Amino acid sequence: MTKQLLTLKDAYKDYFKVGVAVSPETLERDGELISKQFNSLTAENVMKPEEVQPEEGVFTFEKADKIVDFAKANDMTMRGHTLVWHNQTPEWVFKDGDKSASRDLALDRMKKHMDVVMNHFKTPFYAWDVINEVIADEGNDLLRESPWRSIIGDDYVQKAFEFARQANPDVALYYNDYNESHPAKRDKIFTMIKDMMDKGTPIDGVGLQAHWGLEDPSLDNIKAAIEKYASLGLTLQITEMDVSVFNFDDKRTDLTAPTAEMMEKQAERYDAFFSLFREYSEHIDSVTLWAASDRYNWLDDFPVRGRKNWPMLFDVNNQPKESFNRVVSYK
Ligand code: GLA
Repeated sequence: MTKQLLTLKDAYKDYFKVGVAVSPETLERDGELISKQFNSLTAENVMKPEEVQPEEGVFTFEKADKIVDFAKANDMTMRGHTLVWHNQTPEWVFKDGDKSASRDLALDRMKKHMDVVMNHFKTPFYAWDVINEVIADEGNDLLRESPWRSIIGDDYVQKAFEFARQANPDVALYYNDYNESHPAKRDKIFTMIKDMMDKGTPIDGVGLQAHWGLEDPSLDNIKAAIEKYASLGLTLQITEMDVSVFNFDDKRTDLTAPTAEMMEKQAERYDAFFSLFREYSEHIDSVTLWAASDRYNWLDDFPVRGRKNWPMLFDVNNQPKESFNRVVSYK
């Protein structure tokens, strides 16, 4: 491996934590790179509801515990992801026998899930995504349709934060979403959170997922989003960052390696994003990349199944890319 003088965590130690999403498998395969470069971990999947409580009252923490053990052994911190979501949540949560669960039953299950999960995972957690992605992408409705919403009603979002605070008063509670820098969605997220805060709901921060690309979103929009969320007086975290080499509508599948042009453009984008994060670092507590390297990342299957993407700071052999160099060698 090329000798690297600078690492992400060292380069940013005066600004914010630098995190990465992992699984027990990626820790086994890429653990060396991960422990060397990062000081915060997020479980990519294994702390989601279907993983930790597949059946009512049956909590399965083995895989998640491997990640926590790795974090502790390597002096890393963790952000928990995620307690309430419309995806990767088992069917039983919304059922009562053959019928739909009642509001009281769904609320009770939500609370119990948080009590057990947030008490099991305490150190070294500094934040939890209490609710993931409740805002509607389109239309005038603030909230998307989901079983949580149809069973409990719109106040399920507030209830989730209240239960989370009761379960663990010491950890920071986050609202997390994607397309967070697009003006229409940004304004909806802002409106929902402001409304919750006006009602006294306990919330500490906004998670900007930051699944970004070579063209979109614009730097101006990202800046405006950071300023708008920060104006609520909340802390921000960049929670799932990657920089796809394909625009969302680009369905091409002919590439077996990224073009030089793509890699240069990506390096320019990463450079600009991190310089923005430094500029706003008084509001930003951590920046998490959604994979360690191009060897494996979820964009290999989204939005085009089986199409390789190269969105991260390290390449398919875990070697630093130009994007990495620019991120660590700022002036
Ligand atoms: C969303 C979720 C993440 C993950 C990604 C895709 O952003 O918050 O947990 O599922 O999609 O990997």
